[in-house]
Amino acid sequence: MLVHNYSNFNIVKIKIAPSILSADFGKLNEDIASIEPFCDWVHVDVMDGHFVPNITIGAPVVKKIKTGLLMDCHLMIENPEKYVDDFCKAGADLITVHSEATEDLAGLIKQIKDAGCKVGVSIKPKTSVDEILPYLGDLDVVLVMSVEPGFGGQSFMENSLDKIRMLRKLEPNLDIEVDGGINAETAKQVILAGANVLVSGSYIFGAEDREAAILSLKGE
Ligand code: DX5
Ligand code: ZN
Repeated sequence: MLVHNYSNFNIVKIKIAPSILSADFGKLNEDIASIEPFCDWVHVDVMDGHFVPNITIGAPVVKKIKTGLLMDCHLMIENPEKYVDDFCKAGADLITVHSEATEDLAGLIKQIKDAGCKVGVSIKPKTSVDEILPYLGDLDVVLVMSVEPGFGGQSFMENSLDKIRMLRKLEPNLDIEVDGGINAETAKQVILAGANVLVSGSYIFGAEDREAAILSLKGE
């Protein structure tokens, strides 16, 4: 098990969560099977064309995903409270919602827990960590976006590093996930800042050797 010892922090396992946004949706389960032996979570990007300018998949497709790994559903949608129960029933293990998408984050966190899922909250690049500080104790995961959500293949935004450092200082044991522009180089930076769950889409699914790409994110 690869672990990382951040100075002054506890030891947290580095987990890799390939984003299926860059997989071939025509053979999704085959693509997931190609990465499953080497990674930890499967990251599923749900977009509605309103919260972000792109549309992906809904709960009926999520229900068809076959994986033995934790299914990490990142909801980039408006009115998430209308849909979280559907995603839980479809097999999500972790549901991550955006703080910017709701007026009642506490209620939404409770709804996700009551539905039987782990809960994460995400912040976009322009959103301050302060917005989610009151909720940290109720969360399983914080997801720091290191690109504007909506598309794969964008460049990593360095302003995410300060947010990760601040969160890790406050929460030595929390899963701190980072999403957007993660490759072997940026992985080093986010791990040093304190992130321990790395989402990566185009870097993994675009690689000729997906196993090697995943290992390189862990510095192996
Ligand atoms: C972007 C998504 C990401 C995306 C990351 O809105 O949330 O999960 O797939 O893609 P890469 O790793 O290519 O930046
Ligand atoms: Zn995502």
